[in-house]
Amino acid sequence: MTGTGRLMPRRREVHPVASDPDYKTSVSRAPTWPLLSMESTPSEETGPRFGHSLIGPLDNNLILNFTQGQAPAVGERIRVHGRVLDETGRPVPHTLVEIWQANAGGRYRHVKDTYFAPLDPNFGGCGRTLTDGEGRYEFLTIRPGAYPWPNRANDWRPMHIHFSVFGHAFGQRLITQMYFEGDPLIARCPIAATVRDRSQLDRLVAPLDLQNSRPMDYLAYKFDIVLRGRRQTMFENKPQGM
Ligand SMILES: [Fe+2]
Repeated sequence: MTGTGRLMPRRREVHPVASDPDYKTSVSRAPTWPLLSMESTPSEETGPRFGHSLIGPLDNNLILNFTQGQAPAVGERIRVHGRVLDETGRPVPHTLVEIWQANAGGRYRHVKDTYFAPLDPNFGGCGRTLTDGEGRYEFLTIRPGAYPWPNRANDWRPMHIHFSVFGHAFGQRLITQMYFEGDPLIARCPIAATVRDRSQLDRLVAPLDLQNSRPMDYLAYKFDIVLRGRRQTMFENKPQGM
């Protein structure tokens, strides 16, 4: 958002290409006509407002939230944490962060996911939280499995977690994916490859954070989300950020 309160237009020249033959469905989805620029509406710029009353105590714990604590999900327990920051490194407090992911076998709880890895009856795959006053967030979850997808002859998505950061208005919502340090499938993924700049892609790869792991319980991964500026996180829908 600009200093005048208006949303900044997307900078198309730095956007990952909309159509890439190695990412087959992007070709049929990509616009073939010149884009039209439309003014945002007041409701897109002023709402919604989220409060802490929206968030339940287990909403950021994907190991337990699907069963409301009755039974844990199967898989390697991990903690994913970080901060949401603006382009000057200032924290973005009280903003809604949502995640969704496949289970440990690489299967989503979604009617269109027909991969034959089993569903985990104790894992839903969605979580949400609000950043604290210092822009910090955290999730407890399980490490998602890699999964195959119908693209080229044998394409697999690397292990990844989808992230949404809502900001303070519908028009500010940003979506991206977090990958895991050391995953050899990242370099082979046509979707990750739509981020042409390797240093930008590296910012989507969360490093192992042993210091914030808990012995005999979980490993930690650190994923800071920078909304704008030179060190910004690459977003699928708006890489230049808010
Ligand atoms: Fe995915």
